[in-house]
Amino acid sequence: MKRVITEDEVRKWRNGLTGNVGFVPTMGYLHEGHLSLIRRAKEECGQVAVSIFVNPLQFGENEDFDSYPRNEKRDLALAEEAGADLVFIPDGTEMYPKPMSSFIKVEKGTDVLCGADRPGHFDGVATVVTKLFNIVQPDRAYFGLKDAQQAAVIETMVKDYHIPVTIVPCPTVREEDGLAKSSRNVRLTADEREKAPLIYKSLTSAAEMSARGTHPETVKRELHNQLKQTGGRVDYGEIRLWPSLEEADELHPGEPLLIACAVRFSTVRLIDNIIITPE
Ligand code: PAF
Repeated sequence: MKRVITEDEVRKWRNGLTGNVGFVPTMGYLHEGHLSLIRRAKEECGQVAVSIFVNPLQFGENEDFDSYPRNEKRDLALAEEAGADLVFIPDGTEMYPKPMSSFIKVEKGTDVLCGADRPGHFDGVATVVTKLFNIVQPDRAYFGLKDAQQAAVIETMVKDYHIPVTIVPCPTVREEDGLAKSSRNVRLTADEREKAPLIYKSLTSAAEMSARGTHPETVKRELHNQLKQTGGRVDYGEIRLWPSLEEADELHPGEPLLIACAVRFSTVRLIDNIIITPE
């Protein structure tokens, strides 16, 4: 496995390849969720590139950019074991040699759910992902569905701009107690960690209610009540149409629904979701 830090090194590697290239963009501190994306990419593509870059553009002023967990040595060993052929670890000046004068702005689906509280977040994600796609030039790119809104936003952007990359959304990987794997889980206190699995339990019970035909408003109310039992602050708990992210104000049998939430604990905000199709 090659470890590179410059765009030129990635281009040199890419130019010598003939088969399909898979790409897994990450912000590092890899966990089983990322590794499942790398393994899937390796199954489907001849060569796999992983990027590790904590992108300042997608963090708001009071967010956790400085404290975002980092461990390059461990990440490299895990990425190699999962099948990565190249790991691109640029620094801030490689990705942003001078202040950006143009941005990718996705209008649809970015001012709801996580976007409502994090203005500019998805512009930062869309911009860095476009830059990474242009550098790596992958055939397929793998995104975890834990960030379902991110996957939907990237898919919209790729279609709008005719970017020749197939987006492959992959299932959320969970701990045994149901908590979605996340780099940020390490920052939960022992008490918060004990209560955090209630997030997935609440989503599961909302999914069951929706599958039984319960009206989205009723499901949403019950979802909030249950999420409060985590002891965290519920930023949102919502039922939306998937993948348009439009509000599900009525039950639409046969149409996929995204049941999603964000819960804020003392130093960390966790997101999770379930996608179901009520009959
Ligand atoms: O999901 C993430 O880790 C980031 O948003 C991504 C896609 C690597 C862009 O910085």
